Amino acid sequence: MVGCGFFARNHLLAWHHMDGVELVALCDLDAGRLQAAADLIEQAGGTRPRLFADLDQMLREVRPDFVDVVTTMESHEALVGICARHKVPTICQKPFAPDIAAVRRIVDVAGSAGIPLMVHENFRFQGPMMQLKQVLDGGAVGRPVAARLSWRCGFEVFKGQPYLAKVDRLVLLDLVIHVFDLARFLFGEVDRLLARTQKVRPGIAGEDGAVCLLEHGSGVISEVLGSYHTKIDPDPFPETLVRIDGTDGFLEVGHGFEMTITRHDGTEQRSIAPVAPDWGDPVWAMVQESVLNTQAHFIDCLREGREPATSARDNERTFALVEAAYRSAAQGRWVDLATV
Ligand SMILES: NC(=O)c1ccc[n+]([C@@H]2O[C@H](COP(=O)([O-])OP(=O)(O)OC[C@H]3O[C@@H](n4cnc5c(N)ncnc54)[C@H](O)[C@@H]3O)[C@@H](O)[C@H]2O)c1
Repeated sequence: MVGCGFFARNHLLAWHHMDGVELVALCDLDAGRLQAAADLIEQAGGTRPRLFADLDQMLREVRPDFVDVVTTMESHEALVGICARHKVPTICQKPFAPDIAAVRRIVDVAGSAGIPLMVHENFRFQGPMMQLKQVLDGGAVGRPVAARLSWRCGFEVFKGQPYLAKVDRLVLLDLVIHVFDLARFLFGEVDRLLARTQKVRPGIAGEDGAVCLLEHGSGVISEVLGSYHTKIDPDPFPETLVRIDGTDGFLEVGHGFEMTITRHDGTEQRSIAPVAPDWGDPVWAMVQESVLNTQAHFIDCLREGREPATSARDNERTFALVEAAYRSAAQGRWVDLATV
């Protein structure tokens, strides 16, 4: 694994607890973070991994079966490039890169090297969202027509990830990208998109609020809302609140993972709460479960030789929505995805 910062703890513990996976080496430019990550694995009962400051050297000396890239986006192109040169299958955190041109270069490099490359896009692997998809596909509300996916909260994102206060592209690229992926997962590919953004908190470089409208090829119109500035009580972090209108009824996922399905014959309520891993902590349970599910999917695909649901090629389409949203917000008009 390369990158042992804020989010790495979730990856480390998930790999450590996964059957058939052994964490053999860690890499980070920061010696303190590297040691802390190795300590975490030892404290969890694992063998201390070998430690490196240089990925190329790590791959020459260790020759792992795959690499997990958990650094921030600026380094992904270089690091995935090193993995491609060594022909090592790779899973890489979102966002894949700072812009779509870099995403396409990474997709090409991995394609030419013939390595499996998956993006760690974990929202569609959240247990509650997987259950929602099953219910929808089972026809619970008929054919979906209109939807709202909302991730608006006041979570102190800059505390754990101070670098986010300095990025020009903030909430669309860091957060809404997940919700765009959910929209594709639930309703299929998008033809056109309209976006407006806002900068509400003082002292940050990028936008911290966004409202987007998506026209899907399936006929669904979805609203995607994202914010890091919303003062709300109770704060739903880290949940995505969902409302879907279908031809036979409507469906809501509210705070606390309560799903309500309303049809002509009545209303049904059920809990779609995540199952917290026993190494998890309560606030992060859903995030940690989704990390585990994402990593398990990568391993299943590697073993079975199939393309992951969020392969590099697939994630290029999610990234195109982000690029379209910035273009739309800057130009104040609908953007056709075929032009991105
Ligand atoms: N999927 C999610 O829910 C979720 C949540 C939070 C963060 N993330 C993503 O995880 C990634 C990491 O975020 P973070 O907050 O942990 O970042 P971070 O800055 O806290 O940690 C990144 C680490 O990578 C190391 N690093 C950078 N370049 C390196 C290189 N060339 N070689 C070796 N080490 C290098 C840094 O020293 C640092 O320790 C980001 O892409 C972020 O968007 C995803």
